[in-house]
Amino acid sequence: MARRGGDPRGPRGRGDGAQGHRGHGGGRPQRPTLRQQTTTLWYYPSQQYSDTPMGVPGYEGRTPAWVIWNLLERYTREDDLVVDPFCGGGTTLDVARDMGRKALGYDLRPVRDDIFRADARKLPLEDGKADFVFMDPPYGTHLDYSDDPNCIGKLSAFDEAYFEAMDGAFAEADRVLRDRRYLACYVSDSFEKKKGFVPIGARLSGLLSARFRPIDHVSVVRGNRKLEKPAFHRAAADGNFFLRGFQHLMIFKKERG
Ligand SMILES: C[S@@+](CC[C@H](N)C(=O)[O-])C[C@H]1O[C@@H](n2cnc3c(N)ncnc32)[C@H](O)[C@@H]1O
Repeated sequence: MARRGGDPRGPRGRGDGAQGHRGHGGGRPQRPTLRQQTTTLWYYPSQQYSDTPMGVPGYEGRTPAWVIWNLLERYTREDDLVVDPFCGGGTTLDVARDMGRKALGYDLRPVRDDIFRADARKLPLEDGKADFVFMDPPYGTHLDYSDDPNCIGKLSAFDEAYFEAMDGAFAEADRVLRDRRYLACYVSDSFEKKKGFVPIGARLSGLLSARFRPIDHVSVVRGNRKLEKPAFHRAAADGNFFLRGFQHLMIFKKERG
């Protein structure tokens, strides 16, 4: 678990980052051959797709590397520039470079030298430079990413300010993305026992649709350690709520002409 202020493993908090499913005996995740996902229900039983870790190992809230691999396989070519405005532990940079793409990553709290400090709503990048934008932004306040007051992870998804901030990040992604190229956004909905449910995926999809053409909407099965714990399932059944079983992966295209 990371501590505030500079632990390279990243934020502290909910402890339910998308991790690889373990085999029944514990141990290493089982890794089948990596293939393109061909339906709108994506599943792969490991965070990593190879023995070379993508992203800072242990960075909590990491995006599964195979999700980014699948996106780059479909929507980018060699030497394309991939941009991640919420770069976290750098998974996008490592997967992009592993696939022969160029990559630029930004974060309010960079944990590696190749990630630039910037707010996702004001990127130091010229208009139309990116061939693909991937973002896995904070969704709610489950993780303590940093002390930076501009951290979107400090905004509760129960407040409009969160959606206004995300719309600012989408406007900036629109500015830096080349025309006729793609963007993908990976988020989860939020449920809190006393407050209820926020359909973050649907709300963000609406905001994105106002700027880009929707291409598809994928459900990614969450490899979440909490989902392996019987006590959590009992609590969900007894309390009449659902555990988050999937992440939204929303794919859009910029079309100006
Ligand atoms: C879910 S994590 C990204 C995980 C990353 N894709 C990975 O695989 O490691 C979200 C990141 O957004 C960053 N962040 C929050 N608010 C931001 C903002 N306004 N601008 C840039 N980054 C921000 C946090 O510091 C955190 O690293």
